[in-house]
Amino acid sequence: MRLPIIAGNWKMHMTKDTALSYLKDLKERVKGTDVEVVICPPSTLLNLLKEAAKGTNIKIGAQNMYWEEQGAFTGETSPIMLKDLGIDYCIIGHSERRQYFGETDETVNKKIKAAIKHGIKPIVCVGETLEERKEGKTESLIKKQVAQAFKNIDLEDVKNVVIAYEPIWAIGTGETATPEMANSAIAHIREVVRDIYNEGISEEIRIQYGGSVKPNNIEELMGQDDIDGALVGGASLKADSFSEIVNF
Ligand code: 13P
Repeated sequence: MRLPIIAGNWKMHMTKDTALSYLKDLKERVKGTDVEVVICPPSTLLNLLKEAAKGTNIKIGAQNMYWEEQGAFTGETSPIMLKDLGIDYCIIGHSERRQYFGETDETVNKKIKAAIKHGIKPIVCVGETLEERKEGKTESLIKKQVAQAFKNIDLEDVKNVVIAYEPIWAIGTGETATPEMANSAIAHIREVVRDIYNEGISEEIRIQYGGSVKPNNIEELMGQDDIDGALVGGASLKADSFSEIVNF
């Protein structure tokens, strides 16, 4: 049985005050849930929220990190720095980072390795553009992204990785993939993982869906066999809508 994981990606939103009152509200709303709950705030709020989440069931994740441990890399955050704050998860290879900040399958692979080395669990994002979907390239694109993400990563380490299938055309557009579409892409990801590693890990690895997840569509998405959770953008910015998603 895979433990469901629902993560909120705040992207570039929130300040100290809004983040703290959100957390105060959220922790009451998700108390006792049997879903793993993760909040991924901007890096400026990681320390504050990690402290504020102590003693709760809310885990904290970063939205990005660099693969080097230290050095002359102005503006970057290293896995050691995240570990120093006790950060649990890190989103890696989000499509916005691939699109606006030049991330590639190769840098994604380096970041996953660095995260694993320092005990930070990666949430690895993959997903196709609308054009790729229309051209029937969804499966081959996902296969390539997953294969390159996991290049030279040991089976033992894959257990701590979460994959998020986020079709780019569904992000922030209000257009959700149908539950069947999402499930079929995720089932395909499982096959790719099985082909790289084995059946056991393909059944064990958790795979989320992301892209316009809202309180009114989470139940149907979570009802699909292969979907183990959600990576939520817009609807994670309010504690009430995010908790409704967690408590689907
Ligand atoms: P939305 O939920 O706003 O579509 O964003 C999805 C996403 O990119 C989560 O990482």
